[in-house]
Amino acid sequence: MSVHFTPAARTDQAAAARAGGSAGPDWSDAEIAGRVDALIAQMGVAEKAGQLTQYFYFNLPRSEDTEAALPADFSPQHAMVEAALARGEVGSLLFITDPAEVNRLQRLAIEGSRHGIPALFGFDVVHGLRTILPVPIAMAASWDPDGIEKGQAVAAREARAAGIHWAFAPMVDIARDPRWGRIVEGAGEDPYLGAAVAVAQVRGFQGDGLGSPDRVIAGPKHLAGYGAALGGRDYDEVNLSDSELWNVYLPPFQAAVEAGAGNIMTAYMDLNGIPATGNHWLLTEVLRETWGFDGFVVSDARAVHNLRTHGFAADLTDAGARAVKAGVDMEMAMVDPAYAHLPEAVGANLVDEEVLDASVRRVLTAKVRMGLFDQPYVDEERARKVLADPAHRAVARIAAQRSAVLLRNEGDLLPLTGPGSIAVIGPLADSRRDTIGPWAFDFDLNETVTVLEGIRNRAGEGVEVGYAPGIRPAQRTFPSMFDMFGNNAPVIPAEFDEDAERDRAVTLAGESDVAVLVLGEWQNMIGEAASRSSLELPGGQLALLQAVVATGTPVVLLVMNGRPLDLRWAAENVPAILDIWYPGTQGGAAVADVIFGDVAPGGKLPFSWPRAVGQVPVIYSHTISHQPGDQGRRYWDEASTPLFPFGHGLSYSRFEYSDLTLDRVQIQGGETVTVSVTVTNAGERTADEVAQLYIHQRYGSASRPSRELKGFRRITLAAGESQTLRFPLGPHELRYWNAATRAWVIDTTTIDVFAGGDSTAELTTSFTVGTCAC
Ligand code: NOJ
Repeated sequence: MSVHFTPAARTDQAAAARAGGSAGPDWSDAEIAGRVDALIAQMGVAEKAGQLTQYFYFNLPRSEDTEAALPADFSPQHAMVEAALARGEVGSLLFITDPAEVNRLQRLAIEGSRHGIPALFGFDVVHGLRTILPVPIAMAASWDPDGIEKGQAVAAREARAAGIHWAFAPMVDIARDPRWGRIVEGAGEDPYLGAAVAVAQVRGFQGDGLGSPDRVIAGPKHLAGYGAALGGRDYDEVNLSDSELWNVYLPPFQAAVEAGAGNIMTAYMDLNGIPATGNHWLLTEVLRETWGFDGFVVSDARAVHNLRTHGFAADLTDAGARAVKAGVDMEMAMVDPAYAHLPEAVGANLVDEEVLDASVRRVLTAKVRMGLFDQPYVDEERARKVLADPAHRAVARIAAQRSAVLLRNEGDLLPLTGPGSIAVIGPLADSRRDTIGPWAFDFDLNETVTVLEGIRNRAGEGVEVGYAPGIRPAQRTFPSMFDMFGNNAPVIPAEFDEDAERDRAVTLAGESDVAVLVLGEWQNMIGEAASRSSLELPGGQLALLQAVVATGTPVVLLVMNGRPLDLRWAAENVPAILDIWYPGTQGGAAVADVIFGDVAPGGKLPFSWPRAVGQVPVIYSHTISHQPGDQGRRYWDEASTPLFPFGHGLSYSRFEYSDLTLDRVQIQGGETVTVSVTVTNAGERTADEVAQLYIHQRYGSASRPSRELKGFRRITLAAGESQTLRFPLGPHELRYWNAATRAWVIDTTTIDVFAGGDSTAELTTSFTVGTCAC
């Protein structure tokens, strides 16, 4: 019997779906399973290993300067990959964003495979494809799951139109050490916020599920613990207690799985001594058996191959056999995949062929569900239109407005109302590439709006806008591997008279009514392989800021960043500080909307902002300890409190919290209390507030954090308007994983509840929890 997923197998319904942009499968689960199994029955072991292999295939613009400096095994290997395609031994390709290339390579895959199996195309659609949204940490700072979902739906629509079926996103790694550059890709320090953001992103990418038109597979990553790298050093080992793992690092993954994520990516590093990519407990017992994940697992790039490098696997055959047995369905490979050795591993009885079959089944099922057998090719003309859709830019602009966090606003310097002249200062103010941020490759620089352009466009008649960079861009001591892609390294002006440029900037500031400085990190200083040993403003930025402040002109500091930076001096000497993050394609326009008051800022910090690097990690959800009285003075040389607390963010208005009530003051474990709190806009303009709900368990079978976020809602209130919000506190919120009993527990205890606008909220009440009825 020959089982091809040929056009003949399609129905009219599938054809109708195709007309809408992408095909959704119309087969029942049983029908899919039957056909996939019949196909597997005809496949040879090399074909199976091929289906489980994903190759890099770079067709992105690369800079000539760095081409020569590339490591030999990082080169595209186009010929090798195309040969594998022609043998029908490629399951998936990554890093191709050109629809014409997708079609050409897809043809090779289908024609190469005796069974006509199409390839899945994956890509790091981290914060947009062509329309670049604010970086993920910024999206998290919006505390706006609906907006995040909308943003990732735009990213998915563009990706799918270009022929990409699968986003290697969201990154749901909790990050508590800002030295780790990948903090920019996640949702910060908190598992509750992290889980909410993870769910919103999975929904945005996938819609109602795999195969939804204009959507892609979501691949939450990197399971697990990657954010806790020793010393914040990317790729280095992670040692996490059971309590931290279950209570902090795993919840966003579980939430993403429960939201239906179709894929999970493994992590690079050793977790408690076992490489995450070879960890059967993590990838099978936790992910599949405990959480019920039924999608497919991909390794991080070369992570299976590198099981040998870790000193874990004896050789590539051993690495492949152990990874697939641990639960890695697909290997993301550069060259020399370990999974190419799977036939040999099967022959040597290192792994049963049925194990490969189970993985192939998951991969093929995803392909069928995504409609690949119905519609493997992409409509290039339609792709052009979708990528140019102005509605996408509108979503990006709103996302950037909503992610801005007003850290300080002494004397209500912001919003700017009618200054006659504005001095815009700092190289980042005029850099399109940095406005976009890291982890973007297919952007259009021409349509990117810088802060300088945004201010110029918005300032209007009669307002003079001057610009001076003041300093030259700072540079990394060690170059970034991402600099090899075109337009990725900072442009360092060849001619730059440092003293003259600095004087020019200071003079301009002195002669203007207000100075707007854009300071932070260049985008290649944050992201993967961008760990730092310091949090200082790189280059001469602090000196520039100090010189500008010394002119006496009021200063607005716009921070362009993906990690908290050392702003101790600014927090005392600069009246207005707005965190704009890397705001994306429409960033400058959105920033202008906020600083001129067309919209009020409403974002809140998704991490505790440390004063200095020596303090990290600093988190709001620490336990109380035996000596809480001087918890803010644990160091003799600096306060041990954060500079700005988790959840902090000011507004152009003022919010008051009142009437914190409970529908009952006593429950049994397993039952739910509903908390109500009224939020009033006590200011004079419409603005957004993120109401936050925290709990503290007073006593029990473990010491629990002094505060834990357990609810939040972003609302818009007109001046004088009030709204009463309700939050449930039930088993999901009250349970925690107990390291002594090694189980989830709900204690008999008293729970304090706090509501307010950040993690230091003071309005409080409490209820008791009796013996668990569960
Ligand atoms: C390595 C990164 O760790 C991962 O997040 C990314 O998806 C892959 N490279 C593919 O680019």
